[in-house]
Amino acid sequence: MKTPEPLRLGVNIDHVATVRNARGGGLPDPVRAARLAIAAGANGITAHLREDRRHVRDEDMIRLMAEIEAPLNMEMAATPEMVKIALGLKPHACCLVPEKREERTTEGGLNVVSASAYLAEAVAALGAGGIRVSLFIEPDPRVLDAARALGAPVVEMHTGAYCDATGAARAAELQRIVAAAAHAEAIGLECHAGHGLDFETVGAIAAIPSIRELNIGHFLIGEAIFVGLETSIAGMRSRMDRARAGQAA
Ligand code: PXP
Repeated sequence: MKTPEPLRLGVNIDHVATVRNARGGGLPDPVRAARLAIAAGANGITAHLREDRRHVRDEDMIRLMAEIEAPLNMEMAATPEMVKIALGLKPHACCLVPEKREERTTEGGLNVVSASAYLAEAVAALGAGGIRVSLFIEPDPRVLDAARALGAPVVEMHTGAYCDATGAARAAELQRIVAAAAHAEAIGLECHAGHGLDFETVGAIAAIPSIRELNIGHFLIGEAIFVGLETSIAGMRSRMDRARAGQAA
């Protein structure tokens, strides 16, 4: 059997900022969490600069770029304001996500099939700025084809429906992701995945050989309350690595 490509872990530190913002001071510091995440086995840091700045803020992004050597993946809406900020910051990657002010988290993938004209412009502008662009999408071949047509080199598949489902419905959602990942590879897209992953759900996703990166946040920060951030991330890293190597999680 061919050895699968390594699987990267991007740790999303948004909810360290959520806790900080609950009190309005500077603690806990999301940049300290980022430093610890890298030491614990993450390959990169992910942060979502939302239009309402409900968790990470502009100053956090500036500090992450200045103080963390590992690649920064900036999640953002495809708006002129965010594209301007990203082109100024120059993170390693930008993941374009749909954003609704009233949602608690990113609830679904981008509508790339009937995409706004601006989405193509954002992909082109960020790519021209030397930033690797990914599109956060549903695991659906038609959507993948549309993402490819928009010119993005990377897609991140939304794993929320898989994580929320149980029993046969979860198995069906997993099959959708397996098929979509194979399609992404066939049409030349690098494939990432994320949303809602935890210790129980990560193994089956990590075992899909064409998926190259997982972005995980909420569960890791929540688990850190009980076991510490380092142990939480190291536990995820080892489950990912075992599943990738074909061992039971
Ligand atoms: N990937 C994307 C594009 C996201 O928007 C999010 C949530 O911010 C994640 C991954 C991480 O999801 P979770 O926090 O549920 O692990």
